[in-house]
Parts: sequence; structure tokens; C-alpha cells
Amino acid sequence: MLTLTQQDQLNPWLTQTSNVAHNQTPKDTPVPDKNVEWYQPEIESLPTATVEFFEKYVGIKGEKAIKAHIYHIRDKAWNILPYPCIGLFRFLDFSIHLSPDYPEVVRRVQGGATFLDLGCCFGQDIRKLAYDAGTSENLIGCDLEESFLQLGYELFVDSATLKSTFVPGNVFAEDFLEQYHGKIDIIYLASFLHLFTEGQQKTVIGQIKKLLRPQSGSMVFGRHLGAEKGGPFKMESIGWDLYRHDQQTISDLFQVSGDEWKVTSSLSRYGSANWNDDRRGWQGGETKQMMFTAVRL
Ligand SMILES: C[S@@+](CC[C@H](N)C(=O)[O-])C[C@H]1O[C@@H](n2cnc3c(N)ncnc32)[C@H](O)[C@@H]1O
Repeated sequence: MLTLTQQDQLNPWLTQTSNVAHNQTPKDTPVPDKNVEWYQPEIESLPTATVEFFEKYVGIKGEKAIKAHIYHIRDKAWNILPYPCIGLFRFLDFSIHLSPDYPEVVRRVQGGATFLDLGCCFGQDIRKLAYDAGTSENLIGCDLEESFLQLGYELFVDSATLKSTFVPGNVFAEDFLEQYHGKIDIIYLASFLHLFTEGQQKTVIGQIKKLLRPQSGSMVFGRHLGAEKGGPFKMESIGWDLYRHDQQTISDLFQVSGDEWKVTSSLSRYGSANWNDDRRGWQGGETKQMMFTAVRL
């Protein structure tokens, strides 16, 4: 098992970027460069569903005010850790609802299932699920970066209303979310697994196994970088060593747990509702998006 310090050394973002260190506060950290392809200054047009969500859930009226609010929080987050999903507003996909399993997840959460979003960033998918399911007590978000969890409350203005639990934590810590061992029914992993090497991903699956209720129907689903031929991938633009899954590699990954899983996945064009389509070169040719679901048999 990796310790926190070892994981910090191995995290592709933290090792590749000389001007950002995880233990620095935003105040100490030099402001990351915005003159990169994966920082989009503005959103051309917000999808109607996003406007509706911000009007109804957050209570901000009108596209102009919503955009100004989003830019403000996005830039605070960019100054902490400049992930492409932050620079390119990918968090506004509320990606969970794009999964074919989403209707089932909503139903199960309404029935009391415990849901964990691992690597939740602002917790945007928790908010979407809470809104659609009409319940939030049984939803848990976890992220290494505690300030992203706080920014989630600022982005969604719901610290007084949301009953979900947010816990900072490193998936590689030996006591990771110990209080939830054997108690989680559904785990969501979005743009998470691809951050880690194959060996690290096996460790993540081991951690997930400890968290999941040890019964048939326990489920892990999400999305990440994919390719027709999976394997380690150097994203030259950013300098990250990432991992892109294909349908065989994602299936093989779950089998290492020693349990039996039914793993389904699909590859599609890598994109996002809020991207300007000219901002694509940074991700590298052949990169696709994978959606996957693993259900314990
Ligand atoms: C690329 S972002 C994706 C965020 C979100 N799930 C989404 O789809 O927009 C990856 C997230 O994983 C978190 N993360 C990275 N390493 C982690 C670790 N070792 N343990 C827990 N969270 C981690 C980061 O802080 C970041 O918020």
C-alpha cells in the first residue's frame, strides 16, 4: 500500500509541474498560466439544462449572472490546481447523468443506497444526483483537495441545505474512508482512474473493494480517458503520464479484486458540452472517452 508521501511523488500532475506543490496554499502558489489550450476564458453558451439547474438549485437567475458566478469559482480552483476539467468547464457536464446507469442509480439512491463520488472535485455530480433523487443524506463526496470541497459549497451555495457528507482523503492512504468500509453500494469515478498508473489503479480497486458492501449488485461506474488500444499514455501538452483504457483493460482491472464482476464499457468522441471545439489539440490524437460500469456478481 502506498503512503500519502509516496502517492504525492507518483501523482502525474504533482510530479510533472514544477510550479505547483500539493502542500502549498493557494496564497503561496504561483498563479498557473492561463495562456494554455486547456484554459477556456469563457463559455460561449450555457446549455439550457445548466441554466435551469443554476436557477432552480443554486438560485441565481439569468445566464449572465450564472456565468459570472461560475467564472469566479472556476478561477479560484484553477489557481489551486489547474486541471483541464476545471480550465475547460468540464465540471459543468454534470457527467453522472450521461451514464446509461443513471436512472437506476437515482432509483437506488431514492431507496436508500449509499453513494460515494471518489475524486468528486466540487461535488457537482452529488448536487445533480441530490436534485434528481430528491434526497442527499446518503451521498458522500471525497477528494484529496479539501479546498475543492469548500469551493463546491461556494459554487452551489448550499452549505445550509445539502445534507451530503464531504470528506477530504487520499485514496492511497491505508485508513482511507475506514468509517465506510463495507457500507457503500455505489461508487462513481469520473476522470479519476486515468490519473494513475496501472499498478496504482489496482491499488484503487483494492480500496474500492474494502468500501463496497460485500454483496451482489454493488456497483462502480464512471468515465475516463479511453482509446481503441489501451495502455499508458503520455499527454505531451500537459506533461502527464496518464492511462487510457480500452474495453479489455477496464474489464481486466476489476478482475484483480478477486471478486467476479460484470464490466461493460463504451468508447465515444472525447468532448464536453461547454468546450469550444477548437480546443482539442491538447488531449492527443486517438484519445476517446470511455464510460464504464462494473457490477459485482
Ligand atoms: C480530473 S479531476 C475530476 C473531478 C470530477 N470527478 C469530475 O469528473 O469533474 C480529478 C479529481 O481527483 C482528485 N484526486 C487526485 N488524486 C486523488 C487521490 N489520490 N485521492 C483522492 N482524490 C484525488 C483531484 O483533486 C481532482 O478533484
